[in-house]
Amino acid sequence: MKGYVMSIQDQVREKYGEAARRVSTGGSSCCGAAQRSNGCCDPITSNLYDSDQAGAIPEQALQASLGCGNPTALAKLSPGEIVLDLGSGGGIDVLLSAKRVAPGGKAYGLDMTDDMLALARENQRKAGVDNVEFLKGEIENIPLPDNSVDVIISNCVINLSADKDRVLREAFRVLKPGGRFAVSDVVVRGEIPAEIRKNVLLWIGCIAGALGDREYASKLASAGFRNIQIEPTRVYNIEDARAFLTGQGVDVDAIAPQVENKFMSAFIRAGKPS
Ligand SMILES: C[S@@+](CC[C@H](N)C(=O)[O-])C[C@H]1O[C@@H](n2cnc3c(N)ncnc32)[C@H](O)[C@@H]1O
Repeated sequence: MKGYVMSIQDQVREKYGEAARRVSTGGSSCCGAAQRSNGCCDPITSNLYDSDQAGAIPEQALQASLGCGNPTALAKLSPGEIVLDLGSGGGIDVLLSAKRVAPGGKAYGLDMTDDMLALARENQRKAGVDNVEFLKGEIENIPLPDNSVDVIISNCVINLSADKDRVLREAFRVLKPGGRFAVSDVVVRGEIPAEIRKNVLLWIGCIAGALGDREYASKLASAGFRNIQIEPTRVYNIEDARAFLTGQGVDVDAIAPQVENKFMSAFIRAGKPS
């Protein structure tokens, strides 16, 4: 549309809406990078779940996975707890968490993209899990009351937000005192060239919007969190970078050496003081 500039959030919503529609019609969820010949999207989203977890959820929920880690495997979850997944996509981590907090607990998924919510609800129906609720909304404005959640999980979503301070403040607000933040995200170590940060396609594919590790810790502390830990789960080398950047309309050879070992998937833990 002439004269209309899409916000980052509109672009993210459009991109993930397309990904959800592709999965719903039997295609690949790949959106940050082209699907490779082995069926994997890219080195970030591939092989995140073990066979036990994969067997516990519908095939389509696994196909729709667009995360960069496995927060449910790393987070401590107990029966009776309330879990909230920020940017729940096709619902994989919500469905896995719901099993871990049963009986008596509940898992919420929050997403702003209608097609993702429809896919997630379909996956919930197929999984036959009833202690789950998918909510429509933005992670910058969480539609839940203060002090209502035991554990916040998220998988490769906070890096997409244009207002990460607000997301972290909202996460802090909805957590109960003593509640845990247990999130997988892409984090940058050191400097990333400005041209990469500016490239919105890469932003949507997880890299350009990612925070530096120290910046992430500092933003968590400013939001009120304590006991902050950032633990690398995958560090990406030059071949990963090359695979990820292929098909992005970027001069891979010019950029790949500058990003080698500078970005990683990490598990980020923090607590709200009791
Ligand atoms: C990279 S995908 C990850 C989906 C899911 N966590 C997974 O692991 O498969 C990002 C998801 O976050 C949602 N999302 C992105 N930004 C959001 C925002 N600001 N508020 C709510 N949802 C958002 C998108 O619609 C999409 O479903």
